Amino acid sequence: MKKLELCGFSLGSAYIEHGLVLAPMAGATDYAFREVCRAHGASLVVSEMVSAKALCYEQRCKKKNAEELSRTAPLAAVRKEELPMAVQLFGSDPTFMAEAAALLESGEYFGCKSTAKPTAIDINMGCPVLKVVSNGEGSALMKDIHLAARIVRAISDRVKLPVTVKIRAGWDKNSINAPELAKALEDSGAAMICVHGRTREQFYEPGADLGVIADVKRAVKIPVVGNGDVCSASDAQRMYEITGCDGIAIGRGALGNPWIFEEIIAATEGKEYKRPPIGERLKVALAQTERMCTEKGEYVAVREARKHVSWYISGIRGAAEARNRINSVESIEEIRKIAEEISAFSED
Ligand SMILES: Cc1cc2nc3c(=O)[nH]c(=O)nc-3n(C[C@H](O)[C@H](O)[C@H](O)COP(=O)(O)O)c2cc1C
Repeated sequence: MKKLELCGFSLGSAYIEHGLVLAPMAGATDYAFREVCRAHGASLVVSEMVSAKALCYEQRCKKKNAEELSRTAPLAAVRKEELPMAVQLFGSDPTFMAEAAALLESGEYFGCKSTAKPTAIDINMGCPVLKVVSNGEGSALMKDIHLAARIVRAISDRVKLPVTVKIRAGWDKNSINAPELAKALEDSGAAMICVHGRTREQFYEPGADLGVIADVKRAVKIPVVGNGDVCSASDAQRMYEITGCDGIAIGRGALGNPWIFEEIIAATEGKEYKRPPIGERLKVALAQTERMCTEKGEYVAVREARKHVSWYISGIRGAAEARNRINSVESIEEIRKIAEEISAFSED
């Protein structure tokens, strides 16, 4: 097998080996999943997106029972064990963004459950969701390079932590501006850029345009992380060869398959990789669910774990029927029972 030459890059005081990043995914990259991905080779993990405004507002309404009301602080929690880890902020107001970044850096905010500072503050300039872009946030920032640059400047002037930015190719096919935007963000203090090779208009289909990522790589000196459709070591090889990227961010390809990071690391040594059998994989899914229960309580955790467990079994024989059962489980005991049955009867 051809050796994959990904080396990695420095980010502040951390070294991101092989540049292998778990991409931020709202509703998926919680602490439990990040921990699993770190254990299987992701060298940088990123939180779900956190609203800068909500984090700041929660500081202003410290009521008696506000800890229970705090929805945002838990999303931003950083554990020492998962470092290197970046917290992703979204918003469009430079003042709120800088204020939220300062709260994250100090850890002195209401409801903070962090046991470490994040490795970096990541800024979301890629979210395509209407609710977000209609507020001028997420990928809408790509339409206003001046404002996008002011946000990065405001944050990097305020905190010592490195500031990274996740962008798309552009807003739509008539306004591909990722290289120009990336250069402006670098000039404003960004320490790394992650590019998802699609426009906002494309959401998540069709295939990512790796040519735009290559153009960004040529436009800046800071590390560039390529993102889009990497689901195997050969996809990673293609991403690296076409773009010359310094790292690769993996989103959907890691859902139910954290072994993708080990597969890519094996490729950097020129080795083939075979992921463990389904019984072993489901043990990891169960450990992840147990961690979710500890973090969020069984009621919430089990409901959120349904989709994760379904991802873990995708592709195996009988997956459709098992998924129907998983979709209505109410307890971790039920998940454990289904996992045992699958492990006993399924082959890959
Ligand atoms: C369920 C889901 C949630 C996502 N949430 C975020 C997010 O919170 N912040 C962000 O920058 N990107 C988010 N993304 C985009 C991913 O980080 C990534 O850019 C995109 O999925 C393309 O990469 P992939 O082909 O490896 O999945 C999300 C994607 C998915 C599928």
